[in-house]
Amino acid sequence: MTKDRLIAVVTGGGSGIGRSAALAFAGEGYGVAVADANVEAAAAVALAIEADGGLAIPLHVDVTDAAACEDMIEAITQKFGRLDAAFNNAGITERSLTRGETPPETHLLPLDIWRKVLAVDLDGVFNCARAELPLMLEQGSGAIVNTASMQGHVSIPRSAAYTAAKHGVIGLTKTIAKEYGGRGIRCNAVSPGIVSTPLTSDIINSADYQAPLLAAIPAGRFAEGDDVARAVLWLCGTNASYVNGATLIVDGGYLA
Ligand code: NAI
Repeated sequence: MTKDRLIAVVTGGGSGIGRSAALAFAGEGYGVAVADANVEAAAAVALAIEADGGLAIPLHVDVTDAAACEDMIEAITQKFGRLDAAFNNAGITERSLTRGETPPETHLLPLDIWRKVLAVDLDGVFNCARAELPLMLEQGSGAIVNTASMQGHVSIPRSAAYTAAKHGVIGLTKTIAKEYGGRGIRCNAVSPGIVSTPLTSDIINSADYQAPLLAAIPAGRFAEGDDVARAVLWLCGTNASYVNGATLIVDGGYLA
């Protein structure tokens, strides 16, 4: 048990934004549970943290499985005895399931794709929060950050499930904030813009999309995982102690 340092869990911690956040938490001295369906990727991140003198454990979790999320928190309780920050971040898009093909419009969207995207991106956040809250309630403290998206605010055609899920994440975040804000727990969301990660590499590198997307981003560049990670760290920290139920847009000005 490690009761003398803050502890964070990051789902989807093996890649992209989650990887950046896991490294950033470790850089701030947190012990980090790096949780991912891809346990090899989680293990590589945990190893990198330990190689840098930090404290990390890799955990396998499929966030669509409520019992697995409870097991994840049980493992954290066993190992660290507490949980101060939870970044519920694992996610997929329709495109993750169409092998890079442009997903169909809503009337042609296969039910299994709709259900799978909702299962990871919305049920997954619920399953994690539901497992994290009892431990945070016991402590009387904790900060949760859920990953939404620009598509929690606006739609992009051919992403009905993702857009619905990310709008749902923002609603769920507000509900948790209201229910638990009086008991020492804050819950916020982060809405990344277009971040350079494996999830978006085909879009970012596509001759059709790259130039028009860049032209729409006042920052003039795609985000790096660390741009989002720093916002997440801030939301989890004491400087954000009066921030609850908020969604922080980190998009280089795109939505504005
Ligand atoms: P990524 O694909 O680089 O990383 C996602 C990680 O989640 C992977 O390691 C994957 O193994 C894991 N994962 C997928 N399904 C899982 C499951 N059922 N259980 C546990 N782990 C699972 O993606 P990226 O870009 O880092 O995305 C992270 C989050 O950020 C997602 O929620 C995504 O929707 C969101 N986001 C990403 C944006 C971007 O431009 N990259 C923009 C806005 C939001």
